[in-house]
Amino acid sequence: MKKSIFLIFIMTATALVAVISGCNSLSRAPRPALLQNEKQIQEIIGKMTLEEKVEMLHAKYMFVSAGVERLGIADMIYVDGPFGIREEMQPNGWAPLGWENDKATFFPTGSALAATWSPGLAYDYGTAMAREARLRGKDMLLGPAINIQRIPTGGRTYEYLSEDPFLSARLSVGYTKGVQDNGVAACLKHYALNNQENNRGTVNVIIGERAMREIYLPPFQAAVTEGGAYGVMAAYNKVNGWWCAENDILLNKILRDDWGFAGMVISDWNGTHSTVNAIKNGLNVEMPTKRFLGDALIDSVKAGLVSEELVNQRVREILRVRMAIDPIPPEKANLEVTSQPPQQKIAYEVASKSIVLLENDGILPLDLAAKPVIAVIGANAEQKMSQGGLGAGVKTLYEVTPLEGLKNKIGDKAEIIYAKGYESTASGFGSMFRRRTAEEREKEAREKEEKAKILMQEAVEVASKAGVVLFIGGNNRTVETEGSDRRDIMLPAGQDQLISEIARVNPNIVTVLVSGAPNDLTVVKPLSRALLISWFNGTEGGNALADVLTGNISPGGRLPFTLPLKLEDSPAYALGNYPQGTRGSDVFANLVAQTEKTEKPEEKQIEKDLKNDPNTAIYSEESLIGYRWFDTKKLPVMYPFGYGLTYSEFEYANLKTDREKYGQNDVIKLSLELKNSGPVTADEVVQAYVHRINPSVEWPYKELKAFSRETLAPGEIRQVTLEIPVKSLQYWDEKLQSWNDDLCNIELQVGASAGNVLVKKEVTLK
Ligand code: BGC
Repeated sequence: MKKSIFLIFIMTATALVAVISGCNSLSRAPRPALLQNEKQIQEIIGKMTLEEKVEMLHAKYMFVSAGVERLGIADMIYVDGPFGIREEMQPNGWAPLGWENDKATFFPTGSALAATWSPGLAYDYGTAMAREARLRGKDMLLGPAINIQRIPTGGRTYEYLSEDPFLSARLSVGYTKGVQDNGVAACLKHYALNNQENNRGTVNVIIGERAMREIYLPPFQAAVTEGGAYGVMAAYNKVNGWWCAENDILLNKILRDDWGFAGMVISDWNGTHSTVNAIKNGLNVEMPTKRFLGDALIDSVKAGLVSEELVNQRVREILRVRMAIDPIPPEKANLEVTSQPPQQKIAYEVASKSIVLLENDGILPLDLAAKPVIAVIGANAEQKMSQGGLGAGVKTLYEVTPLEGLKNKIGDKAEIIYAKGYESTASGFGSMFRRRTAEEREKEAREKEEKAKILMQEAVEVASKAGVVLFIGGNNRTVETEGSDRRDIMLPAGQDQLISEIARVNPNIVTVLVSGAPNDLTVVKPLSRALLISWFNGTEGGNALADVLTGNISPGGRLPFTLPLKLEDSPAYALGNYPQGTRGSDVFANLVAQTEKTEKPEEKQIEKDLKNDPNTAIYSEESLIGYRWFDTKKLPVMYPFGYGLTYSEFEYANLKTDREKYGQNDVIKLSLELKNSGPVTADEVVQAYVHRINPSVEWPYKELKAFSRETLAPGEIRQVTLEIPVKSLQYWDEKLQSWNDDLCNIELQVGASAGNVLVKKEVTLK
């Protein structure tokens, strides 16, 4: 791939001034609902003082920005997002208010939603989130979180959707529409390139424009242009030299000019860095502070550094959103418990459709006919995942754990015996704050070892008494956390060793990984007769898992990311682009912990080699993220993107297109025959990838361009149709600074995953 990236770095060392114009015809917003009140808004602005205007451009409280009471403009009330409505806190802090009726539904997190491969379910999910937000009187939901999963270790992989821009985009649109059709503004986060948590508050992402436009921005673009998102949250990091909250190219040129975004941009919490640049380059609201867009802005206007017309424009953009969302008077909010049965049902639907079956030699669904003894082993069988780590947790009304789910669904049809097996470890963010002496550390390590031995012995003993072992392990919300990335993808807390010991006494192991991100499966896979990922799956997660294990439903989730054989194979690691240097403290953690600045950390000598600079992230892998990398480099993987089994079998046949040749404005219509040739009703996700045969520019080996999740009864044959607009095959032409066609012969590769293409057809683009 072309290495324009280093040129970009040199350009940004001074200032990146690029004229970016044009976008493909699919990508511009239809004139949004936001523009219906322009005249009235102009009148309101005409009545406002400068001080009143500036009041709207920063936080009033931690999750509120001001309206203008005198003019009947309500405050804007924000809420986290993205997988449940956050509990009520002190207006100016993080301390919970301890209410009872703010208990919300915990929805399956981002990677679980993505594993459904269902934009329809994403819409339902958004609907449910909005209903709960409305019950609590909120105007803007801080979600969906739609950054691309660039590194398998990324701390927020579980919140994000996928490594693939097309899958992420389809789900982002569904989620956004679901939220906004139900009276709440969506706020897309974190715009943009917030693909790592280590040093997220300081890192400068150096990326070529083509990869940025084709891989990292499409979920945002689609949620704006098709989903009509009202809000965007600027990320903490820099992109090509500029903080995201003052990035003219990202906010003004791309978001507003190219995509036609008419709404408002808020900063991530403590992610604003300047007054003049922020307001000029597109930020509307500084959250949750007023350091830059408060008095400093008034002074800047008075000093002639910022025009009042620009302030008016930023206020106008906020008022558009304010007028599109009906404020809820405080006396009408919080009248009932946030979590309600219709939303819980949606949480169940998503969870039950998200579970990915990776292996099964026939041991699943569990045979309960002879009333077996089932050993459930693993801390995650009992661990709740609604809260933990740092940041957006959900104080949930209830959360069915895997063990509870199994007991609910199995009842007296089997005897369930349980052993914890291992102690969940905290390798994530929390441990950064703990200071211990060397002696204390040694003592802790000894005790830990002793405890691990005892837990392992108990588990082996329990396993030896059972017909089948359900090993329920994986990560947890401390291991996967906002504010820091994982050091590796190994199963934490000695789970590999534990499962090896269990296998000595009982070979009938079904392994369930409760993880939001990839794990190394080298040890676990050969020891498991069946292997599943059941995600951080929300309030109803345990019930959904039990329904899959017992065969009430067939598993139908598909991997939203590649599972590599080993971490080092994945692109950013293979190219030495990640990790960069060492980790500093986290911007948000500083805010939460209100850590006093004791001593200034020693200035680090900045290495000449940029790859060792902790504050520079070079994206030299360009577009080769996830399966694009593994396919193009012909590297084997553990399980490919899009992979997942069911309790049935599917056959693909007769791939046809409506024509042989297509022009640049045409839509390729594909159809094929899909047959459920197995014994039970099950879901198949038909995936269409495009491989360019004689392109004029470089491309990844193949790219996902259409998919459809289908439910078929046993024996059923269905004609499945998919559409691929030729315009969606354009590339970002860095020279022309616009989208451009690469009209060539392409092969349509349709199958059950990126690693399992079953039918192919060549067509010509001309
Ligand atoms: C996170 C955002 C979140 C905000 C408010 C930040 O640290 O990055 O995703 O919405 O805090 O809680």
